[in-house]
Amino acid sequence: MAGAAAALLAALAACGGGGTELVESRAGTGDWVWSLPAHFPTPKVPADNPMTVAKVELGRFLFYDRRLSGNGQQACAGCHLQDKAFTDGRARAVGSTGELHPRSAQHLGNVAYNATLTWANPSLVTLERQMENPLFGESPIEMGINDGNKEAVLQRLRDDSSIAGYPARFRAVFPESAQPVTWANVIKAISAFQRSLISGNSRYDQWLQGQAVLNAAEQRGMNLFFGEKAECFHCHGSFNFNDQIVHAGSRIVETPFHNTGLYNLGGTGAFPEPNRGVFELSAKADDMGRFRAPSLRNVEVTAPYLHDGSAATLDEVVAIYAAGGRHIASGPLAGDGRTNPFKSDLVSRIDLNAQEQADIVAFLKTLTDQEFLTHARHADPFAPK
Ligand code: HEC
Ligand code: HEC
Repeated sequence: MAGAAAALLAALAACGGGGTELVESRAGTGDWVWSLPAHFPTPKVPADNPMTVAKVELGRFLFYDRRLSGNGQQACAGCHLQDKAFTDGRARAVGSTGELHPRSAQHLGNVAYNATLTWANPSLVTLERQMENPLFGESPIEMGINDGNKEAVLQRLRDDSSIAGYPARFRAVFPESAQPVTWANVIKAISAFQRSLISGNSRYDQWLQGQAVLNAAEQRGMNLFFGEKAECFHCHGSFNFNDQIVHAGSRIVETPFHNTGLYNLGGTGAFPEPNRGVFELSAKADDMGRFRAPSLRNVEVTAPYLHDGSAATLDEVVAIYAAGGRHIASGPLAGDGRTNPFKSDLVSRIDLNAQEQADIVAFLKTLTDQEFLTHARHADPFAPK
């Protein structure tokens, strides 16, 4: 991985820097054109849900539409806010009926490339399937759509006379169906919008292309991040700063999950229910506490951190890694995560002084992409202009 990163840097350096174009256009399906930085692969798109400009725009309206929840109170965007890279700023998400979700809402930057979706579910591999959770899930309730109100919610969209103009918009995007306002089409459109959420214009990306400078602290942090001492790159080393990537050209897709030593209830290695990671689904001892390494893009704005929002700041997260896990001295979650028997071999005490920890945090903050966080094409289309 370090070799790959070095090769990438060399290749980019060979491009000459300075006047290089930051994004390139790559043909998608239909009239869709991807705008991607040169170091990003082309996203994979399911054959039965091609991207089109009109579909992405329909999906954007639906993503921001509160009418899409059972009680009309909550849109996808209620838990996925653009200025927070589409997470919500809470430790744990709150659904449309006030129910507390056991986990923290995830950011959606570059979600098109995620090989599996959510914090710890190896079997959830498409955005289309993932969406059934927030829409129809009952434990916990997110959007609160169920058999009792499913038709009524669709009827709201069929009767729509807002600026969304759903009847005409659905007809234009799905011309083959007599009644295009269906759940399958709602899901397709929102998935297409989510695939359009590409974040690749951070200062780090600009630096890669010779168009920005990183200061001394950021460069030291970067060297630690990609070096063998801190080992962050083993799990966060891809162009998307994670280790589960799928794209249009992928052949073998790896989907590792890791126990990073956050808990160790009663010294048994257990994580608290219902947040035991892949173990919740597999019930295999080895899967205890295993979670997907999140993409660290825009991580500066996605606090609080970890699957349960249990770390408030980046300094706190880096300090946990430096200690080789988290020791919780007292209370119901007491236990020494550093000695969790299921912990990954890649997480062990790192000899990092305060300056080095601060340097890593400084580097992580270079992954913030202001354009992504503010661009009109991802923003709420219902907001007054
Ligand atoms: C109540 C808050 C809430 C609402 C509303 C909500 N989400 Fe989420 N979202 C979450 C949480 C929490 C997770 C993490 C779920 C988990 O790991 O179990 C998540 C995860 C995701 C993921 C996985 C991201 C990844 O990196 O794997 C996607 C995609 C997503 N949500 C899309 C949506 C869409 C689309 C909608 C609307 C149909 C929606 N969400 C509505 C809270 C919410
Ligand atoms: C063994 C793989 C692995 C290594 C090595 C690793 N991470 Fe992680 N990282 C993860 C996993 C898995 C999570 C999610 C943990 C959870 O919430 O249970 C995570 C979460 C994070 C988060 C929180 C992100 C968020 O959105 O909540 C940050 C920040 C982070 N890691 C930074 C680092 C840094 C910096 C290093 C190097 C010092 C590092 N990681 C090394 C796997 C790893």
